[in-house]
Amino acid sequence: MVSVNGLRRHFLKFISIGAIVVGGAIAFFVKDFLSSRTPFTTSAPTSIGQSYMLPLPKFSSNIMLEKAIACRRSIRDYLDKPITVDALSMLLWAAQGVTEFNYGFRTCPSAGGTYPLEVYAVVGRECVLVENEVYLPAGSYKYFGKTHSISLVREGDLRDALAKASLNQGWVRDARVNIVLCAVYERTTKVYGERGYRYVYMENGHVGQNVYLMAAALKLGAVVVGAFYDEEVKNVVGAQFNENPLYVIPVGVPKHFYEIDEDDLRKYYLRMRG
Ligand SMILES: Cc1cc2nc3c(=O)[nH]c(=O)nc-3n(C[C@H](O)[C@H](O)[C@H](O)COP(=O)(O)O)c2cc1C
Repeated sequence: MVSVNGLRRHFLKFISIGAIVVGGAIAFFVKDFLSSRTPFTTSAPTSIGQSYMLPLPKFSSNIMLEKAIACRRSIRDYLDKPITVDALSMLLWAAQGVTEFNYGFRTCPSAGGTYPLEVYAVVGRECVLVENEVYLPAGSYKYFGKTHSISLVREGDLRDALAKASLNQGWVRDARVNIVLCAVYERTTKVYGERGYRYVYMENGHVGQNVYLMAAALKLGAVVVGAFYDEEVKNVVGAQFNENPLYVIPVGVPKHFYEIDEDDLRKYYLRMRG
């Protein structure tokens, strides 16, 4: 005979095993559901708002800073060759990546750490190679320095539209990627008033130079472009209403890489001194 207490024990055991099984199943499905909705993915983004974790920055260029400075040139003629996603990663990190881990300070100085600049990458079709014959889908991507990721804002090859918005400058159309720097002035002007505008322009220059130097270090060609119709560029990249474009920076594999060395410099300066 099974006692009442025995029955109760069996019943409780049955209930607890059931609870564990049902709980486990719920946890499994919730986790699965959440992971399918996670905003970050390592595969290339295919829909608006989807994010892509860029390869982490690598310190591997082997080029001395002074050499990169010497070889920085505005380069407007590019080959019809893709750049790698590693190169894109380094260019974006140089523009606004994080270099300090307590406050999240970045590669470029910023007045009061107000960080008014937003960075977009306008990627052409089959222009950024992820791996063997796999390319980042063409489109406009917003860069997030904190996670070193990009998020798809607009789909399609937008280079032609961007070139038209940039007074038909051919290098914007021919570039593999155009890095577009936009300013949210209020972030800086609410701290520094009118003077904040000049701080934002200065900061834009710092970012432009960092992109130039990283391009030189990667043996890529870049040029900063300031001549464009603001509203058109804004629409092409899909910028927010308060994000104002300041630079469009075409980047590509140069037809001719500009290169000088210490000896060339020495000869030049000795000639100048007579
Ligand atoms: C604020 C600014 C705006 C510029 N705008 C353009 C532009 O719209 N198109 C272009 O081809 N180059 C542009 N440039 C690049 C200059 O033409 C280039 O820096 C200059 O010819 C000197 O050459 P270097 O950069 O190779 O030293 C701009 C440069 C600066 C600093």
